[in-house]
Amino acid sequence: MSEPPHYCEGAALVETGDGFFRPVSRPARDFGVLLARTLAAGGAEGPVRVLDGMAGCGIRALRYGLEGAATAVWANDADPNRLPLLERNLARLPQAVERQLSVCTALQLLAGCLVEGRRFELVDLDAFGCPADLVTLSLEAVAFGGVHYLACTDGRSATGHDRRAAVRRFGAAARAHPASWEIALRLQLGLLARAAWAMGRGLTPLLSFSEGRAFRTAVRLERHPASAEEGQLGLVAHCHGCGDRRCRAC
Ligand SMILES: C[S@@+](CC[C@H](N)C(=O)[O-])C[C@H]1O[C@@H](n2cnc3c(N)ncnc32)[C@H](O)[C@@H]1O
Repeated sequence: MSEPPHYCEGAALVETGDGFFRPVSRPARDFGVLLARTLAAGGAEGPVRVLDGMAGCGIRALRYGLEGAATAVWANDADPNRLPLLERNLARLPQAVERQLSVCTALQLLAGCLVEGRRFELVDLDAFGCPADLVTLSLEAVAFGGVHYLACTDGRSATGHDRRAAVRRFGAAARAHPASWEIALRLQLGLLARAAWAMGRGLTPLLSFSEGRAFRTAVRLERHPASAEEGQLGLVAHCHGCGDRRCRAC
């Protein structure tokens, strides 16, 4: 029998299987590895525990262990058909990296973490759509000083093309705008910030980027909000008269 096709990215060699996998999302995975390495470099030899809540074939979890200096990885996906693939791919993790695999929805996973008091230095949610319903529980799963790395593929509402859905998901709606990807990222940051503040926590934005399809934001969870942190929330204006982003004259 012939070997199933393999895909190589960074230090990882994986079977991608039949489910969702996009080689072009590599920059998002590279950033995840960089975030984990930054945590490892700054952590005074503390653990770097990573929760990959929507793991797909497990390529991120594997790269966190191989390249991100993670000491433990937990890979989860709601699709039970993914489990054999996850098991095969994560068998390539170094022996020293603790591993756990699970099959449940991210909501169930995060609720379990809350009940068991589990926290991670990096929580990665590479979601379909807008996982607004998960944000509070996923921030709860982040250790203080740890990183929350979120992807949202709901570009329609966040870029002003479905304003009702945007109000429901983000608590705010933007108009369609020349800088609509930036607006979408700002709405996503606002969603995270309001959830953190409601918990009495603060956030430091680390990176936000999009190629127009997925909107990705990484933030560091702080024990307390910084003084006047709310003042940092802001959108971008656009003057239809002169095109200025902050028009003073028209
Ligand atoms: C964007 S893909 C993940 C891709 C993967 N992180 C990568 O970099 O290749 C999203 C994954 O989430 C899973 N999924 C969808 N809804 C979910 C949910 N509610 N909880 C957990 N996993 C879910 C899907 O089965 C799918 O494998």
